Amino acid sequence: MKVLVVGSGGREHAVIKSLKKSSEITEILCAPGNGGISRDARCVNVKATDLQGMKELALAEKVDFCVVTPDDPLALGMVDTLEAAGIPCFGPKKNAAVIEASKAFSKELMKKYRIPTAAYEIFSDAEQAMNYIREQNSYPAVIKADGLALGKGVLIAEDEIAAQEAVKELMIDKAFGDSGSRVVIEEFMTGPEVSVLAFTDGETVKPMVSSMDHKRANDNDEGLNTGGMGTIAPSPYYTKEIADICMKEIFVPTVNALKAEGRPFKGCLYFGLMLTPNGPRVVEYNCRFGDPETQVVLPLLKTDLFTIMKAVRDGTLKEVDIEWSDEAAACVIEASGGYPLSYTKGYPIEGLDEDGQCEGVTVFHAGTKYEDGVYYTNGGRVLGLTGTGKDLKEALAKAYDAISRVSFKDMHYRTDIGKK
Ligand code: AMP
Ligand code: GLY
Repeated sequence: MKVLVVGSGGREHAVIKSLKKSSEITEILCAPGNGGISRDARCVNVKATDLQGMKELALAEKVDFCVVTPDDPLALGMVDTLEAAGIPCFGPKKNAAVIEASKAFSKELMKKYRIPTAAYEIFSDAEQAMNYIREQNSYPAVIKADGLALGKGVLIAEDEIAAQEAVKELMIDKAFGDSGSRVVIEEFMTGPEVSVLAFTDGETVKPMVSSMDHKRANDNDEGLNTGGMGTIAPSPYYTKEIADICMKEIFVPTVNALKAEGRPFKGCLYFGLMLTPNGPRVVEYNCRFGDPETQVVLPLLKTDLFTIMKAVRDGTLKEVDIEWSDEAAACVIEASGGYPLSYTKGYPIEGLDEDGQCEGVTVFHAGTKYEDGVYYTNGGRVLGLTGTGKDLKEALAKAYDAISRVSFKDMHYRTDIGKK
């Protein structure tokens, strides 16, 4: 079988490294991929959002199966396009991907099907939004752009002045373009955050091991929100008891709700949860594998990933037993200095072997270029170093040990991943 993976980040590298273990797969292509991915798959320069280009590539290469991982192509309907051309895919169709692409949609879905989440209101008028915030007079106020905004469209305002600025930034200045034409204003929740990725074929839902992201740029959860600076799995907060509640009150009801709405979800459904004093609540849904959650979750998967992906596509997930290692994993991200704002690309990376790896960990490449035997930085998040071990402490020790050996100019990373 020849498989095409769409995307170019650390998450795609993790998916490819898992797929490589499948005996059924003879070749993996990745579009567009990156320097490190090119050591594990044949990279082809087609943009992840180019629906037509991807279809032409898949047909020309006679690809047997396609894995669409990033949010943008899913929201644009890449799976619909490829499936219509006869190419089986792992990933939701456009009408199900909307669960991530529109926060207004996902909040209304949760309200209708009584899935626990923060109370909210939706506004498409800036003045009405501000009047509502003043009336509520409860801070911090949480203000979210309706559409996709690279994970940066959520603003938490400590007082009225900050709220006013946030509403202006999203709705009037349009910092995230049309994503901010509508906003969701919701209740502020507290508690540990847990990510649970789940395989679902639209009927059956099978959660993966839990994980925990670290979204802020700096130690002690300070600084700007990023795509994610590090992850651990499993999350020590996510007990068996909480998992049972989530299955019953959140995972199964969400999959059933999408089905009832005529939007059956096939692929990886990501539940961003907050474990509040009143029980688990949904913070957000993503219609795809998380990044960098995937870099700690898939290394713990014992079952053949390709077998699972085919069952998800074919609607036979119920028949697949999915086994997980009882070890722990930790991923620390090495980012370019200045990320998530502006940063310089093109610095050589030291400490990687010819395959872009380093002893003791698995190196997932997020933003690298490979030229004449040298890896260069080529993005905000550059590498994710994942250690595994019998417990979290051992996994973290391995990841941090490798961090001291792999480096580049102005490199930035958090020193407190997994400490909380
Ligand atoms: P989201 O993109 O919806 O996951 O939001 C990004 C981050 O903002 C989350 O990971 C939380 O840390 C925070 N956040 C979002 N919604 C809330 C909320 N209602 N209460 C508190 N924090 C929130
Ligand atoms: N790590 C969060 C996300 O993938 O959206």
